[in-house]
This record gives sequence, C-alpha cells and structure tokens, in this order.
Amino acid sequence: MSKSSSPPKEPSSSRGRLVNALFTASLALICLACYALLIILYIQADLYHIPSLVTDGDTGSIKPTVAVSLIAAVLAAATSALITRCVEHSFWLKLVPGNVGSPLTVGEVNRLAQWSVSPLARLTYALKGRSWALKLSGLLIFAFSIIAPVLLAGISLKDHFRITSTSASHVADYWTPWINRGNSRFRGGSAGDLVFGMAAQASNGNFAAPVAPVCHDDSCSVSTGSSALFATCNAGTIDNTENRGLTVCPTQTTTSTTVSDFSTNYCSDIVPSMCVNLTCGAPSVYANFITGLDVDCESGSAGSTGPNACITSPGSWAVIFGAWVGGADFGIGNSKLINTVSCLVEYGNITISQTGANPPRVDRNSFKRSLYPLSSYSSPISNVRTFIWDESAPTTPYYFTLRVVGTGWNDMYRQPFAAGLLGDDASNDAQHVARQIENNFDWATMGAFARMPNASDMVTSTRTSTRVYVYNQLVLLILLVPFLGSLLGTWGRWGVGSDDEVVGYNPVAIANRGPVEGIATKPFGVSQKEYKKACDKLLLIGVEESLVNPSARNSPAAMSQDKKVVFITGANTGLGLEIVKALYKSTQSYDIIVGSRLVSNGEAAVAAVQQEIPSSSSSLSVVQLDLASDESIKKAVENIESKFGRLDVLVNNGGAGFDGALRDNKLSIREAWNKSWDTNVAGTQVLTSEAIPLLLKSRQARLLFITSGTSALAFTERFDHPALQRINASPAPGWPKPKEINPIESYRSAKTGLNMMMRQWHRILLNDGVKVWAISPGFLATNLGDVGIEQLKKLGARDPSEGGNLVKRVIEGERDSDVGKVVGATGIQIW
Ligand SMILES: NC(=O)c1ccc[n+]([C@@H]2O[C@H](COP(=O)([O-])OP(=O)(O)OC[C@H]3O[C@@H](n4cnc5c(N)ncnc54)[C@H](OP(=O)(O)O)[C@@H]3O)[C@@H](O)[C@H]2O)c1
Repeated sequence: MSKSSSPPKEPSSSRGRLVNALFTASLALICLACYALLIILYIQADLYHIPSLVTDGDTGSIKPTVAVSLIAAVLAAATSALITRCVEHSFWLKLVPGNVGSPLTVGEVNRLAQWSVSPLARLTYALKGRSWALKLSGLLIFAFSIIAPVLLAGISLKDHFRITSTSASHVADYWTPWINRGNSRFRGGSAGDLVFGMAAQASNGNFAAPVAPVCHDDSCSVSTGSSALFATCNAGTIDNTENRGLTVCPTQTTTSTTVSDFSTNYCSDIVPSMCVNLTCGAPSVYANFITGLDVDCESGSAGSTGPNACITSPGSWAVIFGAWVGGADFGIGNSKLINTVSCLVEYGNITISQTGANPPRVDRNSFKRSLYPLSSYSSPISNVRTFIWDESAPTTPYYFTLRVVGTGWNDMYRQPFAAGLLGDDASNDAQHVARQIENNFDWATMGAFARMPNASDMVTSTRTSTRVYVYNQLVLLILLVPFLGSLLGTWGRWGVGSDDEVVGYNPVAIANRGPVEGIATKPFGVSQKEYKKACDKLLLIGVEESLVNPSARNSPAAMSQDKKVVFITGANTGLGLEIVKALYKSTQSYDIIVGSRLVSNGEAAVAAVQQEIPSSSSSLSVVQLDLASDESIKKAVENIESKFGRLDVLVNNGGAGFDGALRDNKLSIREAWNKSWDTNVAGTQVLTSEAIPLLLKSRQARLLFITSGTSALAFTERFDHPALQRINASPAPGWPKPKEINPIESYRSAKTGLNMMMRQWHRILLNDGVKVWAISPGFLATNLGDVGIEQLKKLGARDPSEGGNLVKRVIEGERDSDVGKVVGATGIQIW
C-alpha cells in the first residue's frame, strides 16, 4: 500500500494542548481528592459532620458502604483513565512528525496502541511489553476491582455506651427501713427483730435479696450510700479430743451422765468475756451461740487496750460467738472438730448497687463504720438495738443452744434458724457459717434498701447504647494499589499533546496525520514473525508501506527513509560541488544526488568529495542532467524516482552566464540572451515542474533556487560598494559601448526573472507545505561566466564553500522563518 499523494499536514502544536493538560490534571486531582476523602473517612469520619457515616440507624442516606463504594469506584475509574490517558498521549507524542525521541519498535507501537484500548492487551503487555513500569501498572489496574471490597471489609459496627447520672440524697432517716411494721406493732417500734429475723432466714435459704423499685429496665443502674449492719466473722476449729457434743464421753462408762470436767468454755476473741460451753454425755450440748454487747464498754468501764479492749461505740452494734460440733446426732458432720465463729457486727454506711430489676449487691469493701453513736440518729433504731441485741435478749436468732440426748431427741429440729445456719445435724463447717452470718447481715442491709430506697443517698445512672461504625485504618493500605498503579503508569509519561498530535483512534484523523514517525526501522527485540504481524496492523492505520513492510524495506524508497534525498543541479563544480561537500560533512544523513551535464564530471566530483571527506553517513550518486534538454530533465527525474521514490530537497543550482561569449562575439545577442534565460530560468522551471510529484512525496519538501546578488532591482540604484559601483556604473555616452571585463546584463536579468519564478512556486506550493526559497550565495570564485577563478578573486570573490554552507543551513532548517524570500548569508536580500 503506498502512501497517499497528499502531503502531511504540519501539526498545530498548540491547539487543544492546554485543554488536554487541564483534563489530565483534573483526573489527577480527582484521584487525589478520592484518596483524601477515603483517608479522612477512615481516620476521623466525624470530620464530615454526616451522622449516618458515624452512627448506625441514623436516618441519613449516606451510609459508609455507599460512600466508600462510590469513592472507590470513582478512584478506580479516574486512576485508570489517568494512566490510560498518559500512556496514550506519550505514545502518540512519540509518533508526532518531527518530534521523535527514542524510536519504538513496531511491536511496541502495536502493544502500546492496544494497551490504551484493550484490557486484554494490558495483560498480554505484561508478557511481551518493553516497559516494566507499564507491565506492573497494567496488572495493578486489574486489581482496582478489589479496592472497594477491601475497604468495605474494614468497616464494622460496635456498641458505644453513654452513661448519664443523677444523684439524690436520702429524704427518710437512714435507719427507718430497719423498723418494720411488725416490731412497731409489737412494742411501739422498738422491739421484735422481725426484719432481721426474716432477713437471716431468707439469706440462709439462699433467697435473693428483694429488688428496690428504682429502675425500669436494665439500662438503669443505681449506686447508693445506704445504712448497713455489717458483720465480719472469723472462723476457727479445735480438735475435739474430749468428744464435746457427743453423747459418749471418752472416760465415761455410761452415756446418761453430764460430765462437768468437760465444761471448758470457748470464748470470743473479740469480746473475751463472751464464752460458750459444749458438753458430752446424754444429753450433750453440741452447739451453743450467744450474741450481745460488751456491757463494760457500753457502761464505759472497760479498758481501752489489750485483749479485753472495748468494742467501742460508735460503730459497734454487737458481737456473735458460737461453737459447734458436727454430726452429733446422725453422724453427718465432722465430729472430730469443734467449729467456732466469732463475728463483730458494726453499723455504718455501705454501697449497694442495683441494675434494672436484678437483685441488689453490696460492695463489702465499701463499708464505712459510723462515727456517730446510735443515739445521735433520729430514728428509734437505738432502742431496737438495745432491746434485741442485749446479752439476755433471746429474740436474736444467734442466741441458741442445741442439745441431743439420743436418737429421737435433738432440739435443733425445733429451731429452724439454727438448722438453716448450721445445716442438717450441724454439718456446716466454720468457714461456711462465718460467711453465712456475713451474708445474713448483707441481705438485711439490701432488704432495708429495697424497702425504702429514699432512706439512701442514691446515684442513678442511665446507660444508653448506640451502634457506631468502626473504620479499620489498616485497610487503607489497599490504596497503595491504585497509587502504585498510577505512579508506574504515568511515570515519565506526563507529556500532553494537542488533538492534532494525539489523534487517538480516529481513523480520519490518523489518515490526515499521514506517515508515522518514531518507529524504529529495525525489528529489534521481536521475532521476524511478530514484526511482520505488527507491520500488517500498522498498514491498517495508514502507516507508509515502505516503512512497515519488511519486503519493501530494501526498496530505494525505504532505504532512504532515514536520509533526506537531495538533488543538486550543476553539482559537479563550483557552488554546487560545495553544497555537496557541506551536506556530505553534515551530522545529518543525506542521499546526495549530484546533477551533472556530463556523468563523468559528476563521478569525478563524487570521487573527489569522497577522497576529501573519507567518512560520512550520507550517500553520493550521480544523475545526468542538462537543463537545456527536456528529455534529459525527464530522465533525471525518472532516475531519481526509481532510485529513491521521492525527493526531499531540490537545489536549482545549475546556471551559467553567456554575456562574456556575447562580448567576444561568440554568440549573437539573441543566442546569448536565449541561452541565459533557457539555462537559468526556463530549464530550471521545466525541471522544477517535473520534480514536483517527487517533492510532494516528502514530508518536509524544500525547493531552493540559487539566485544572485546582482538580481535585486533595488540594488541597481546603489553605488555604496565597489562591486555595485562596477556593475551599476553607466558608461560614457556614445555607441558602441566599451567592452566590460565581466558583462552580466543577460545573466542578472535572468536571475531577476528567477526571483519572480521562485515567488510563483512559493505561491503555488504554499498549501502543499513545500518550503521555497531563493538563495543569494554572495560573490564566489567559481567558473561562472568563464571569467576565471583568479580573476574573480581579484574582483573580490569569496571562497565558494561559504555559499555551500549557507545552502546547507537553509536545507537543515536554520532559515525556515524566511520562506518565500531571497536568503543571503547575513539576512534577506531585498527585491
Ligand atoms: N559564482 C558566483 O559568484 C555566483 C553568485 C551568485 C549566484 N551564482 C549562481 O550559482 C550557480 C552555480 O554557479 P557557479 O558559480 O558554481 O558556476 P560554475 O562553477 O560555472 O558552475 C555552474 C554549474 O552549472 C552547470 N550548468 C551550466 N549549464 C548547465 C545546463 N545547461 N544544464 C545543467 N547544468 C548546467 C555547470 O555544469 P558544467 O560543469 O557541465 O558546465 C556547472 O556545474 C549558478 O546558478 C550561478 O548563477 C554564482
């Protein structure tokens, strides 16, 4: 497939670039915004002031799942779009004519083009692509789909509790709930220990303490400062070597006699004067409990130190002391041990707590003994205590004696409280009973509270719970996937082109764009088969056949693709030869075609150049050309087309002066003027016309006409330079005029005509993108006009290499801003 004959259009370098850059920047900003939104959400969600992002059950519609899914989706899409865009732009920018960086292989071009449009190509790129960063980026793009699930997995719910508290001081006397209606009826409120008796029975029976009506549900809890009777009991055991409590004494022969020898008392370690006795025999005393006060203390006659120290008031309520032997009757308990329990009962203040409708609890560690005598309380508790806990008061539950005579007679079973406390047949051990007595008092304290909570100082706490979202910040690590993906995918690919440069996959734009540059000419890095496959695909997008078809690569056109094809007429000598040398020396590569009337002269010139410049990346060849022959011109163009397929630069250098021959009568006036115009103007016009199709095959066609400093009409009025004075001077009057050394009338006239011809080509080819100049190389010492090099030097002519370098600079783009003008070494020559 050959390239379209229409020439490539110069891409506009600015149209759309700013907009495209803004678009790319917007995508980057969207990505950054998404990162920021997600990080803030997971680190401090309440910064958004959207309750539904923090609390479950809030009526707001933006739930965390919705917010995270949306942001993650936008992040994935924007990141993917950003990477794709950067890859696409960098790819097309590499293919912009005249803007080629390091070349891409054909295979890489194919892969990159597919990368931007095909998810599958991103996977296959990882296998064959040349950029490691892009390979990884392509794979990471696939992982974008897990961003949302991973982020969502980091959101959970937990209960968040809030506690509000109110406090209320007691309104009834602390001790009022301890005086119940029963004892009030019995003795006006100062007798009958029903409250405590009932409490002890209930506690021994493991009944839960009564619930105070202070809370409606479990969200409520109270903590109180309540009045309390607080028992602290010590438990002890003694070996029962004397068979105390048993019906058979060790030294007894009969079981019916009480033996007074075994009447040793066991006394309280709190109030040593409180003692009990256990006996053996029939009947035997196997349990004996007493309660009471240290009367000496009460009367103030007791000492203040030592083992008999007072259990002083305020704060002391009573002492309980008991001793028992288990298994006295039916052998259930441990009859080898005497159990003792010694309790100090104090009055004071304790903390009770109750949650909802659950039984209250006392915090035994919180008990504080009262600092005030009972008499200072306004309630009748003082009298109650005095009455019921008096040493002789039998109404206290802890005042009993249990005896057994033999089977069928055991007074424990007439005393339910004693049975409840000591267990069946007094089988409970000392520790158990000690704790039970403590529990009895605690139960009584809780019962009093339940009966009348307003006698307590109470703090009511209400606990409300809400379900809140918890964001696990660790899952934010998943954001490394899109971040690394975009870093790898965009690194070094931030260049943004205009729509003309980055045509995307618009077939019309691609066709308009013309040949693709930036593709390596060799199939490096890929197999020949893959290279061929890629070439076939590139043909589909309009890439020149010679560029991509391996079989066409050996054609002259393909071989010259890298080098500019330059045809210089009259290049075997003079200025033409210097142009050849300048190009041959250049760092740029050319296929230089030396136009020569005689091929042998051309070949000799080529040999001379190659000898003078042994090494060059350019090639030299000779084409026969006589500007006076249409046939020669045609053949020359055909020659070039078959060898090179196109022409990048035509330098119309060939020219001649015939004024000397006219002066010397070797030519008639007509012959001389006709030859001058035929060679310098008409022949050049014919050649240019024939060469235009080849020039239009070039992407950067240049058309140069070598004119003369003598051609400017404006210069004919100037005399400010010796050369101008000479050529513009008017001879003395009369006819014939004297012969000049170097007559140039027909020559300079023809060159003036050449200038107009150049202007016409500039006009005609402007829209084809062909750059046209006329070059005024200066006065050079050449063979022009057969004046002689030495003679010309005498007249001020300079070395022709200066003209050769000027032409080279024009060919290599230094004077692109002067198209359509006569370009001189120091500026633009006026008309
Ligand atoms: N020298 C200057 O001071 C000066 C100044 C301004 C412009 N120029 C221009 O520079 C160009 C080169 O001239 P030059 O100074 O290098 O002179 P040159 O040494 O005489 O070279 C002229 C070249 O043109 C060729 N030529 C002559 N008639 C031709 C024709 N009918 N067909 C094809 N080729 C033909 C000559 O070929 P043969 O060798 O076969 O004759 C020779 O190669 C001319 O256009 C001239 O007008 C020269």
